[in-house]
Amino acid sequence: MKALVLSGGTGTRLRPFSYSMPKQLIPIANKPVLEHVLDNIKDLGVTEIGIIVGDHEPAIAAVFGDGSGLGVRITYLRQEAPLGLAHCVTLAKDFLGDDDFVMYLGDNMLPQGVREAADAFRAGRPAAQVVVQKVADPRAFGVAEVDGAGAVRRLVEKPAEPRSNLALIGVYFFTAAVHEAVAAIAPSARGELEITDAVQWLLSEGHEVRAHEYAGYWKDTGKVDDVLECNRELLDGVERSVAGEVDARSTLIGAVVVEPGARVVRSVIEGPAIVGAGTVIEDSRIGPHTTIGRDCVLTGARLEYSIVLDGATVSHVGGLRGSLLGRSAAVSGSELGSHHRLVVGDHTRVEVAA
Ligand code: DAU
Repeated sequence: MKALVLSGGTGTRLRPFSYSMPKQLIPIANKPVLEHVLDNIKDLGVTEIGIIVGDHEPAIAAVFGDGSGLGVRITYLRQEAPLGLAHCVTLAKDFLGDDDFVMYLGDNMLPQGVREAADAFRAGRPAAQVVVQKVADPRAFGVAEVDGAGAVRRLVEKPAEPRSNLALIGVYFFTAAVHEAVAAIAPSARGELEITDAVQWLLSEGHEVRAHEYAGYWKDTGKVDDVLECNRELLDGVERSVAGEVDARSTLIGAVVVEPGARVVRSVIEGPAIVGAGTVIEDSRIGPHTTIGRDCVLTGARLEYSIVLDGATVSHVGGLRGSLLGRSAAVSGSELGSHHRLVVGDHTRVEVAA
């Protein structure tokens, strides 16, 4: 079995981050979303991985290279424009050949892994198998109508009036039968070749399509609030480990990770929290549910339920909560008394306490 990971697209809902980095590289518990995805694929014993990439190809290739660091072999497949999930399969036709494959959306987090789903597919080898989960509001997702025995009867992409609460959660298993399907469909109303339409085509041609219900935690990390919530979920599973320096006047509460080369000085860190390698935290109170990237400097900061990316600085600012600070961002207390001074880029969101 091979794998096809989809990491193209524009990620407009994650602006401004997606201007300078692909959303698949946003760190969750200090590891890019895409690395979590690749780990899950490797866990299936699959090491031949094609990654669909768009304009952000150099940034993704800079992190993962040929995959040898993770023990896999990566082939980058360039998509010039985000023409749809099924378009990605057509681009990967030569790479995939006649092999079965797992298609995995590079912004979906399934921390409990997809081994059970893969075992079910390998045992029955239906033409396609989708992974689904019940959601409260299925209108933002592909929706599957499934019979009592797990056979898919119908699939619709983002229906206004869903006839089931089972959403497709970004992982699909296919045999080579899908290549005929992606070649047969036409673009949808939003101008994309939809994978749901391709799977629906398989159904209408009499192929077997099955659904596997995933019981673990799942999050599509397409929006900032989802990234923060997913970070919270993963941090709840970390254990305390202190490789960096913590001075005698600092207190660590609960599950705190202090990576090598990090320094914590006169501060309180409340777990679960991660302090990335090379970061310096002074006179601050950090956490819970907070991840600080590498080589950051936090001085006189109060920050909880947040993610700070590599190289960012926060000085003399309290009350930060639910925040996502980009790489090398600088947030500082004002020297102008009661004024706020903001230099804010396109599509940035700032909420200031009234
Ligand atoms: O998150 C689950 C949902 O993902 C499913 O329920 C839907 O059926 C499925 O269509 C998809 O919907 P989204 O609207 O969330 O897809 P998005 O545009 O965010 O793309 C998903 C991933 O695929 C993302 O990592 C970007 C990548 N992508 C997307 C398109 C359209 C590509 O690599 N190329 C593309 O052309």
